[in-house]
Amino acid sequence: MTELIHDHHAGTATAWWRDAVIYQVYVRSFADGNGDGVGDLLGIRGKLDYLAELGVDALWLTPFYTSPMADFGYDVADYRDVDPIFGTLADARGLLDDAHAHGLRVIVDVVPNHTSDRHTWFRQALAAEPGSPERERYIFREGAGENGELPPNDWESIFGGPAWTRLPDGQWYLHLFAPEQPDLNWENPEVHAEFASILKFWLDLGVDGFRIDVAHGMVKAAGLPDVGHPDQVKMIGSEVVPFFDQDGVHEIHRAWRRLLDSYPGERIGVAEAWAPTPERLAGYVRPDELHQAFNFHFLTTPWDAERFRAVIEESVLTAGLVGAPTTWVLSNHDVKRHVTRYGGGELGLRRARAAALLMLALPGSVYIYQGEELGLPEVLDLPEEFLRDPQRLRNPEDGRDGCRVPIPWAVSGPDFGFGFPGSQDSWLPMPGSWGELSVEAQLDDPDSTLGLYRTALAVRREREELGDGSLTWLKSPEGTLAFGRGAFVCTVNLTGAPVDLPAPGRVLLASDPPAFDGETVRLAPDSTVWWERDDD
Ligand code: GLC
Repeated sequence: MTELIHDHHAGTATAWWRDAVIYQVYVRSFADGNGDGVGDLLGIRGKLDYLAELGVDALWLTPFYTSPMADFGYDVADYRDVDPIFGTLADARGLLDDAHAHGLRVIVDVVPNHTSDRHTWFRQALAAEPGSPERERYIFREGAGENGELPPNDWESIFGGPAWTRLPDGQWYLHLFAPEQPDLNWENPEVHAEFASILKFWLDLGVDGFRIDVAHGMVKAAGLPDVGHPDQVKMIGSEVVPFFDQDGVHEIHRAWRRLLDSYPGERIGVAEAWAPTPERLAGYVRPDELHQAFNFHFLTTPWDAERFRAVIEESVLTAGLVGAPTTWVLSNHDVKRHVTRYGGGELGLRRARAAALLMLALPGSVYIYQGEELGLPEVLDLPEEFLRDPQRLRNPEDGRDGCRVPIPWAVSGPDFGFGFPGSQDSWLPMPGSWGELSVEAQLDDPDSTLGLYRTALAVRREREELGDGSLTWLKSPEGTLAFGRGAFVCTVNLTGAPVDLPAPGRVLLASDPPAFDGETVRLAPDSTVWWERDDD
């Protein structure tokens, strides 16, 4: 099957991941193949033609393992099986084979920081005595205070509230996320052995790599010291906290790299690491560690030319210092969709289109979150009774349901083709206007956002200068960015007004077409243009 995997640039048989465009499938919301209102593996299998024609190189599937779904699959009860709501192990095998036959690699999620509270290990731990080997697989502690009635330290859960829950026998257990997600004890060799075995299970099944959930979280500072102040609930921040980004975590990634390298075909590890600085992030992608790390510094950059330039420069520089490619990402299943972050409505969409062309022109690998190629906004007005994300339950302002609304495939029909006639309603309701944003509505329109992504990915594939490599900044007016990559030039106008500059060459693609006046070009507000230089 592997010979059907095409590398981004003909002739580069290795290091496919250095410039891969990887499409994130949030399985629950991508396509419903069995009509129960929830996306599944069968649904994905039915959309592989779409994904291959979109022009991406690989898929990242969010967790589809057996789970009580307290955090929609990020609470895994059995790491070696598929949850019935998503299908069966045979479906997973079938999906891998079909994806490979379509020339698409497949990365799956692994969740090593915590298990579900329904995982056999945690059930055994609850049934066992304090101090037993069963409890040693997790982080159990006696409480503070005279009678142990206070949590062992001041750590807060990412979802809000204390990171500790007390058991009837008086011990407390640590959960950096929901109480249904107890943290594993990575000081215990048994935990290492179990995860090595889980990774092998999926590698043997044919996956091309892993997205490692909370890759900065497994190792906690010795003695579990207090942070010393409240308001620790952010994944990203400028300070180092005793539960994230500890140096010891790199030992785990080194061991996993050795495991990945023992398989043929360059299987990769991608860190979901919210490190405080690009330098700290680069630690995760040293040559003997993981291949990639998500660049959340890029994702969180506001719409501002100087800020973008700074984050791009710093990302390229710091990844380059360890010989790793940079990655670029604008949205995922944990953050507000970027159309909305950039201002929403027409403005947000204009900026999102411009941002897509900027991202796809930068050196390195790109992550696309399902639906961004359709220009989907965040759904901000979901009815209260549907809101189920544990983060929102604890912090109403910060829910993640609005970026997880199912994908509209068809102009009309119930749930716009997410299911099929007769299917149950989709698990989150879809806005009535989404038919216009559907795949069907955009597929044959080159000016649509889908058309823009498809053309951009085709150009990116064709042009040697794009993907891996470097860039050279070019002089450009305030509020704009311009860089060259060989004969290729990218200009971005991040201002809300048109900007004039000398035309760099011939237009290859634009998020919004520029206007010409002789040698001068007028860039549209909030737009990106790809050029081929005249003088090369
Ligand atoms: C990661 C996932 C997120 C999940 C959390 C806990 O950040 O992306 O969805 O809630 O880990 O596993």
